[in-house]
Amino acid sequence: MGRQNRKKMPEWQALGKHAVKMKKLHLRDLFAADPERGSRFAVEAEGIRLDYSKHPVTAETMELLIGLARACGLDNEIERMFAAEKINETENRPVLHWALRDFSGRAVQVDGSDVMPTIRRVRERMAVAAERIRSGCWLGHGGQPLTHVVNLGIGGSDLGPQMAYQALRFYSQRNLHFHFVSNLDPGHLAETLRPLSAENTLFIIASKTFTTQETMANAAGARAWLLQHFSQETALSRHFAAVTANPRAAAAFGVATENIFEFWEWVGGRYSLASAVGLPVLMAVGPERFTEMLRGYWAMDNHFCSSPWEKNLPVLLALLGVWQINFHDAPTHVVLPYDQYLRRFPAYLQQLDMESNGKRVNREGRSVDYATGPVLWGEPGTNGQHAFFQLLHQGVHRAPCDFIGFCRSLNPYKDHHERLLANMFAQSQALAFGRTQEELAAENVSEALLPFREFPGNRPSNTIMAEELTPDVLGKLIALYEHKVFVQGVIWNIFSFDQWGVELGKSLAKKILPRLAGDTETESSQDSSTRALIEYFKKHSSK
Ligand code: F6P
Repeated sequence: MGRQNRKKMPEWQALGKHAVKMKKLHLRDLFAADPERGSRFAVEAEGIRLDYSKHPVTAETMELLIGLARACGLDNEIERMFAAEKINETENRPVLHWALRDFSGRAVQVDGSDVMPTIRRVRERMAVAAERIRSGCWLGHGGQPLTHVVNLGIGGSDLGPQMAYQALRFYSQRNLHFHFVSNLDPGHLAETLRPLSAENTLFIIASKTFTTQETMANAAGARAWLLQHFSQETALSRHFAAVTANPRAAAAFGVATENIFEFWEWVGGRYSLASAVGLPVLMAVGPERFTEMLRGYWAMDNHFCSSPWEKNLPVLLALLGVWQINFHDAPTHVVLPYDQYLRRFPAYLQQLDMESNGKRVNREGRSVDYATGPVLWGEPGTNGQHAFFQLLHQGVHRAPCDFIGFCRSLNPYKDHHERLLANMFAQSQALAFGRTQEELAAENVSEALLPFREFPGNRPSNTIMAEELTPDVLGKLIALYEHKVFVQGVIWNIFSFDQWGVELGKSLAKKILPRLAGDTETESSQDSSTRALIEYFKKHSSK
């Protein structure tokens, strides 16, 4: 049932027909027809409110979408993930990021053994390490407390901890400083290390595989930098920690066993923040706050597994996305947190969503004939308003938005927060209702300017709100989007937990590298464009 051709399903076709009808209606019509629409199409659960009234939906739309999810076997797929079945079929692995924040006490069996005690053990070791840093007891080789923590990682081993550190900075211990180096560009490491002293710097090498070239190169650079200062290898053990599913490689690099924090094959990189990958966040905010975040995730996991779909936040978010992407041809999705602490949230979601659902073949290995994951992007409000909102309001692309905001500021100052939220509400209002030429004419706008100043409206958005940005709320928001991505993958019948699309570029780079270093052997194997680019590089790089 779960794997039939989606476009041939009667539920899909019914939605297609329904969409034709719905496209004739403007959001203005829908709001005019139902004075209660703003609360009818809103759900509050786990302290999070999702207002989806500014989507072109009716009760019938939601019923049809839920019918599609049911016909795609969503309930069965949720069960399979939470029963630790190997749903990551192309890598033959279960998908267990949810186990990292499961506080129920139940066993989770992988290949005949319960993984929960190991998860707890690593978390306890992380808490001890974090307390040593926070109390100033973790001393460097020269006897000074380590106060600067540099996370060396990329993708999920960077975006998650960086985003969460920024998001929870308000709760962080202020005499500790956190830095995130990801790029192979040597400028990233160099500029980060320039103001730092080896005496009080701890490097966390975060890499699931411990083979990723960017991270390994930066780890080697960090080691060289430390050795310039300390000159003996033995000095390094206090200045390196590792977070990895490959502890042997970390030990071979020279990381002391007591500083290696393990996570496992069954945690996808982009789903790994709740694992040891969260170590810098734990060091910054402390074990109690970190646990609050994990409990937030867990609350959303429970909500996802147990709430009826018409009130289920991740399911609703996913279905509204499917409605926009597949039935209204929206190629993109914009995430707009009206909160500066969440400024890396869109970048984090970009990997989560696009690496998971940027797929063109279904679970049978056949090309799909419908759109899958959207191009996801965004910036915090109000900054985005002064950059790309023009396109959102008057451009030709359909770009559904998620506005994310909080009722209280962590840093109240005069009426700034009220103004921030007024902007957020105003933007979704402007997108939905626009401004007609008649309204403009009534404001004495000259006729010549009417087409330029008209706002068509009818542009969809969600508004997601919570009282305040706490660790608990952050955990809930992350899990909300994780499960949204999962549900969409089920509906599109694609595998959301592999990422084969990142491999080709990596292997081609390995072939090109020797050419840049002067080897001419492989020249003929390169296409003419790459060959010319290499030649240009060689000609000018030595100057
Ligand atoms: O290249 C993509 C990727 O594999 C991501 O999925 C992952 O988050 C990132 O690289 C980093 O991988 P690792 O943690 O193994 O260094």
